[in-house]
Amino acid sequence: MDYQNIKFEKDGALAILTVDRPKALNALNSATFHEMEHALNSLKEDTRALIVTGGGDKAFVAGADIAEMATISAAQAREFSALGHRVFEHLENLPIPTIAAVNGFALGGGLELALGCDLIYASEKAKLGVPEVTLGVIPGFGGTQRLTRLLGRARAKELLFTADRLDAAKAKEIGLVLDVLPADKLMEHVKAVAAKILKNGPLAVAQAKRVVEYGADQDLRAANELERQGFAVLFGSEDQREGMAAFLAKRPANFQGK
Ligand code: CAA
Repeated sequence: MDYQNIKFEKDGALAILTVDRPKALNALNSATFHEMEHALNSLKEDTRALIVTGGGDKAFVAGADIAEMATISAAQAREFSALGHRVFEHLENLPIPTIAAVNGFALGGGLELALGCDLIYASEKAKLGVPEVTLGVIPGFGGTQRLTRLLGRARAKELLFTADRLDAAKAKEIGLVLDVLPADKLMEHVKAVAAKILKNGPLAVAQAKRVVEYGADQDLRAANELERQGFAVLFGSEDQREGMAAFLAKRPANFQGK
């Protein structure tokens, strides 16, 4: 597939997905979602981390495409919402870590895209928010739910009701982004984070993601059982043998993801 709205690059075990419609501040239309879905479906086992960012120098993603949504029916809106949910759930369920590099506006669907990633880092010029109520709607790609789970109900409601656009420092203060970097250092930083992750046992990283994700919606008893299972499963892997043997032999581990 020839992509018109995204760039999808591989750099060894790292993949970088750039939403790339800078003239529309990378707004997410249906065509962009379909390309993102195609890109995610094309990921092979040799890709072990994914960075998501925005093209151009102004925006990560400025939301769902308002021009596309302006005249659609309720039935079409449901379909569009389902498409966005499907792509972001796909992202969330990938067995590899995903990192959002928020390099500018992350509004509405753009913030929802970042929230579908495991880790969010922002540049100093990022602006984040959910301005949907200014358009007479609410977020439709999981924002109401993921924001609530991440920030708690009161802060999520504040952002949803006021449509406030947060600067990066405030977003960090409330725990919406992990760290804030100068604009020209953001990609370097997220690549360094990815590189650190890539040195570790990929099956273990995948299990860590799985038990956190599935455990987060369970009570503690069930969630702890998930952890026990994940821990035990890893003892059937070559990576566990290699990791522990390498430690005892005082040499770096050479993980194969098996
Ligand atoms: N959809 C479609 N086009 C968009 C867009 C969007 N979400 N955001 C920006 N654009 C377009 C603008 O229409 C403009 O196009 P033209 O040059 O053809 O006029 C171009 O991108 C540049 O934008 P601005 O001229 O507005 O740039 P600015 O610097 O003055 O403002 C901004 C930047 C504050 C981000 C402003 O563009 C803005 O408010 N954008 C909309 C943000 C928004 O409301 N997002 C939520 C969308 S709804 C949603 O996401 C629902 C959902 O969850 C499903």
